[in-house]
Amino acid sequence: MEKNIEHIKSEALSELEGASDPEAIKAISVRYLGRKGIVTQFLRNISSLPAAERPFAGKRANEVKKELDAAVKGILEKLASEAQRPGDRIDVSLPGRVPARGSLHPLTQITREICAIFTRMGFNIAEGPEVESDYYNFEALNIPKNHPARDMQDTFYVSDNIVLRTQTSPMQIRVMETQPPPVRIIAPGKVYRCDSDLTHTPMFSQVEGLLVDENVSFGDLKGTLTAFVHQMFDTKTALRFRPSFFPFTEPSAEVDILCVMCRGKGCRICSQTGWLEGLGSGMVHPAVFENVGYDTRRYTGFAFGMGVERIAMLKYGIDDLRKFFDNDFRFLRQF
Ligand code: PHE
Repeated sequence: MEKNIEHIKSEALSELEGASDPEAIKAISVRYLGRKGIVTQFLRNISSLPAAERPFAGKRANEVKKELDAAVKGILEKLASEAQRPGDRIDVSLPGRVPARGSLHPLTQITREICAIFTRMGFNIAEGPEVESDYYNFEALNIPKNHPARDMQDTFYVSDNIVLRTQTSPMQIRVMETQPPPVRIIAPGKVYRCDSDLTHTPMFSQVEGLLVDENVSFGDLKGTLTAFVHQMFDTKTALRFRPSFFPFTEPSAEVDILCVMCRGKGCRICSQTGWLEGLGSGMVHPAVFENVGYDTRRYTGFAFGMGVERIAMLKYGIDDLRKFFDNDFRFLRQF
């Protein structure tokens, strides 16, 4: 008899162990501990046992009943708490998690936009080295050694004859050396100057333009740059050409753009002038053509150069150049 109750107990426990959901556990509980359950029956039958066995069997059966009861409660609680752990539940109604994707840097976007406008006008893209020889960066562009014009650009010298290019203009020479006119190129890229303050960084980006053909006039230069500015900003953005100097163009002009913030009324961005400096430009100097062997009586051309950061600042209304290089995601994510 005593063995019997131990046997019932171990069977009940192994059944509980094999059950994995609350319904099954409850069924087992009813089968052993319910009104007609096996343990309950056992307790009822104690009166039919020999008198000597009754006290012990009764005590043991009551203990087993309590133990099984506790085991059932314990397993049910454990199952309930597991169901509540968020990690174990899959909520199919949640929106999916989108992987974070990178995007193009605003300067890359603007460079591409500038290139797209000029390639639509028939210009080809030409790219070249950032570490450049003195010859291409200066001499071939009519800036001889010891010429005061070199002071315009604070140069990083790698060695006596090698520099970090201070402008994209050396691409004019590199392209003209390899092909006869007509030439129609733009050259985007990084340039370097030993300069660092609120509005200057030691590295920045330019896009150079060069067009050479027969009968190219200053009017073509104006028309091309006007078409560019109207596409980059809008057709209400006026241009102003101011006489200027570059050793490799003659005549030369600085091109101002009507202030995109105040539309000419005068504001902080344009220092109350209503105009913003935008581009350098001019008609290619005959000395430059001579350096690449072009016939100066047959061909004329124009060139221009612009700072990409400047265009981007005007386009997006940004007043601090350094933001482009801080790599602050809060800034970069806006574009
Ligand atoms: N290279 C000049 C600069 O960096 C800009 C320029 C390009 C001017 C082409 C005229 C023609 O300042």
